[in-house]
Amino acid sequence: MGEAIVVEDLAKTYRVKKRIRFLKSHIEVVEALRGISFKVRYGEVVGLLGPNGAGKTTTIKILATLLLPDRGEALIDGYSVVKEPNKVRERIGIMLTVEKGFYGKLSGRENLEYFAALYGLEPRRARERINYLVKLLELDKLGADYKLFEEYSLGMKARLSLARALLRDAPVLLLDEPTLGLDPPSARKIRDLVKDLARKEGKAILYTTHNMFEAEMVCDRILLINKGTIVAEGTPEELKSRVPMLKVVNLVVRGNKKVRGLIADYNVKYEVKTEASDLHTIRVYVEKPEEILGDLLKKFVRNGYDIVSIRVEEPTLEDVFIYFSREA
Ligand SMILES: Nc1ncnc2c1ncn2[C@@H]1O[C@H](COP(=O)(O)OP(=O)(O)OP(=O)(O)O)[C@@H](O)[C@H]1O
Ligand SMILES: [Mg+2]
Repeated sequence: MGEAIVVEDLAKTYRVKKRIRFLKSHIEVVEALRGISFKVRYGEVVGLLGPNGAGKTTTIKILATLLLPDRGEALIDGYSVVKEPNKVRERIGIMLTVEKGFYGKLSGRENLEYFAALYGLEPRRARERINYLVKLLELDKLGADYKLFEEYSLGMKARLSLARALLRDAPVLLLDEPTLGLDPPSARKIRDLVKDLARKEGKAILYTTHNMFEAEMVCDRILLINKGTIVAEGTPEELKSRVPMLKVVNLVVRGNKKVRGLIADYNVKYEVKTEASDLHTIRVYVEKPEEILGDLLKKFVRNGYDIVSIRVEEPTLEDVFIYFSREA
């Protein structure tokens, strides 16, 4: 069997009419995808990991034939999303963050029956599959047979969405932030299921998230995406070892807001988080902390900051992501 998903130089631009003032507007161009390429094999969970606006949902929508790319091509199970959308649709299960299409006045099971009919599943096969999925996702315990969809909690809606994505038993699953907003037990249930679907049933799964911790737990391979570009790719371990010399100086200081200006002089990559208005955590990415540390601390002290704490650490996956996404 070939590759499950092959993406070649996919690009997408949105044009948004932006009103400046009364009767005056201009067209704003948003480059959501700037030519991305990647592959997903059967039996593999690949994470598309990136911050808000990175282009994750756009990628999923193009692969699901809900959106046409401006340039490039994608093959799902050998079929083109541009030229053979109907073939593609039969081969994918999709779960989007904003769930549309479910009927509020129907129970969970009735909703699944409706979609099974819409997908053209033969009635007996549909019944078997729905029974199986309702058990698999433990929807029966949560009242899938008597509670109406509009009475569902977010966690139940997520499970029902995943059940719908699995109705057709398609070889390729496109899951857009499937655990968004779920409590830890529900999120874990979904993550465990996703891993099983790849390991035991050989599904190819593209899984978007902005959560590094989750990506590391669920994905065999991770694509780091930022501003429509894949900035790095590999297993979580590979990504961390891509920057073997990197150290992280975690510095907490108390003082005014101009911290960025003080670090900018060093021409290093860094990240600032401000918790209270005057309490800043700064993570500085450097190969040799000893070369800048003394000077950096002096600079903060000279500018009236209190040094609250300082540690030199190994990078986490989140640091690796920031490192790859930032210009120095
Ligand atoms: N329908 C649209 N019209 C105009 N711009 C859009 C549209 N959809 C997305 N965009 C823009 O395209 C870029 C990529 O958006 P996309 O939804 O793919 O990002 P994302 O990685 O899924 O982000 P998030 O983590 O917030 O879901 C963003 O700048 C977004 O504002
Ligand atoms: Mg999104």
